[in-house]
Amino acid sequence: MAADEEVVGTVKDQLAKLFEESLRVTVPDQTDTDPLIAACNPRFGDYQCNNAMSLWTKIKGTGSAFTGPQPVGQAIMTNLPRSEMIESCSIAGPGFVNVKLSRQWIAKSIQKMLIKGIETWSPKLRVKRAVVDFSSPNIAKEMHVGHLRSTIIGDTLARMLEFSNVEVLRRNHVGDWGTQFGMLIEFLFEKFPNMEVVSDQAIGDLEASENLFRKLFIYKCSSTYSKVLVYCILGNKVVKVSSVKHWYTVPDNGAFYKASKQRFDSDPGFKERAQQAVVSLQGGKEKYRKAWSQICEISRKGYEKVYQRLGIVLEEKGESFYNPYIPGVLEELGKKGLIEESEGARVIFIEGKKYPFIVVKSDGGFNYASTDLTALWYRLNEEKAEWMIYVTDVGQREHFEMLFTAAKRAGWLPPGDNSYPKANHVGFGLVLGEDGKRFRTRSTEVVKLVDLLDEAKSRCKAALVERGKAEEWTEEELEQTAEAVGYGAVKYADLKNNRLTNYTFNFDQMLNDQGNTAVYLLYAHARICSIIRKSGKDVEELKKTGALVLEHPNERALGLHLLQFAEIVEEACTNLLPNVLCEYLYNLSGHFTTFYTNCQTSPNRWCCQSLVAFVLWGQRRRQADSCCVKRLQRSCGNASIYLV
Ligand code: ARG
Repeated sequence: MAADEEVVGTVKDQLAKLFEESLRVTVPDQTDTDPLIAACNPRFGDYQCNNAMSLWTKIKGTGSAFTGPQPVGQAIMTNLPRSEMIESCSIAGPGFVNVKLSRQWIAKSIQKMLIKGIETWSPKLRVKRAVVDFSSPNIAKEMHVGHLRSTIIGDTLARMLEFSNVEVLRRNHVGDWGTQFGMLIEFLFEKFPNMEVVSDQAIGDLEASENLFRKLFIYKCSSTYSKVLVYCILGNKVVKVSSVKHWYTVPDNGAFYKASKQRFDSDPGFKERAQQAVVSLQGGKEKYRKAWSQICEISRKGYEKVYQRLGIVLEEKGESFYNPYIPGVLEELGKKGLIEESEGARVIFIEGKKYPFIVVKSDGGFNYASTDLTALWYRLNEEKAEWMIYVTDVGQREHFEMLFTAAKRAGWLPPGDNSYPKANHVGFGLVLGEDGKRFRTRSTEVVKLVDLLDEAKSRCKAALVERGKAEEWTEEELEQTAEAVGYGAVKYADLKNNRLTNYTFNFDQMLNDQGNTAVYLLYAHARICSIIRKSGKDVEELKKTGALVLEHPNERALGLHLLQFAEIVEEACTNLLPNVLCEYLYNLSGHFTTFYTNCQTSPNRWCCQSLVAFVLWGQRRRQADSCCVKRLQRSCGNASIYLV
């Protein structure tokens, strides 16, 4: 952005400044009174100042000249400095000061934003650098809908913070460490005893293929696993690695995990070897490290596909990354007297919790908790982040409460929840199926992320074909549009709900073009753009002429709503709630539609339309100018809405 000083602050901030001055004059002794400004019922005004009541409680009986909250409110109103912002004020109830903003000022502010850029409307947050820990699937396991929620919500939070000029470290805290790797590695060795021989040749090819475990066909010789042969199918080319006698199919990541778990649970010999493999891996034995990194690499390729589809960027720093730092961190905590012995394990006791926070297991191994403590330490001390945000399902709330309390006890984080550095757990609820139970497929397996995205896309494509688009568009256009709308719909259906509530996954609902869906927003936007295009005018013209006038009440309402963008982003960031932004966008579409219906002859019609487009889709002029429905869907759909 050009400069910090360009940021004007939200409407609320600007009003707060005026009321602060008034409060200084009205109650000079109450120096610590912060102005309380909130949006108000449109029947009374646009905003209200709520200080009178609480001030009255403080000053009554202290010899003040005021006789009740209303006169306090009256004085606050009278002492307000003159400002072009305010058209009129009134007093309601026990001293609320209602403010009606000046429509000229609203128009002028929008015009200014138009000229200087939407960045000047980004809220001022108190942090410079934040970590958003999101997505974070577990290696060798399939990414499921829970990870979908984390990925979508986390990415949106990151975008909102980035828009607010916070440097965001987008962290993929993948589960790439732990005892399960002994099992996975041992299973891999069992299936590929000649792993080292084939690895360079076969694994290289396999990595290029979609998914190792999906594309692998393993040969089992005379019912023993002594000679395992690998076939890799790349497209229609079959690469033979060794000779074949019998097929054994491992269909995907999750299946590989499951198969090895089964083996682990049923064969004590295997179990012992797996436990030994963990020791070898942690001891850094070359063969084991290599197998581990191959397993990770294969899973990673699978995740990348999902991220690419959703346009999501994030940097992997998995659990293994923090492993070398754990002993040092635990030593520090030990010195501070936080760590105690309990039933052979080393633990941190947390007040009010039934179980302690186990940081070293009784077998001496580290765990999820020790890794998270260390990651928090690293983020604070090495990465100098001021805000750590963890996006996982609500099931992990307890873990994070304990983590944050431990960090507070260690003095890493300040007590209380309002000062920085700060850590927040962004929990989310379950995705439910139509039956109201946890979303599952018919075979009671967890639903795979990739399948959901595929289905959303194919449904969109079918709908487009049904509308005759196959004749109008090229196959590529059809594909891209289906992807944009389909993925956008899945994202928006998730984000529009308060993240803590469970929501029902329903394709028909999310792909409906009426109601609160991404498809509806996309159509609203496409319509706005097509009107601008047909008007033959240019947004640049609007910047130069300065002719924005908000006459009709619906025009004013639309203008005011646009202006409230900054405080909505601020609220969404502060409370880590993407649904606040979704609601804003949905209402913006509503305000636009009302304006569009009722102001047919307004000279500002195209101006307002272009402004909505400007805010809705983040000032992408190129798109706003050169749009047609399909192109818009294509270009905006996947990002859905600039921030969301
Ligand atoms: N891998 C974990 C899971 O799938 C989520 C990790 C979340 N991040 C963290 N720092 N604990 O449940």
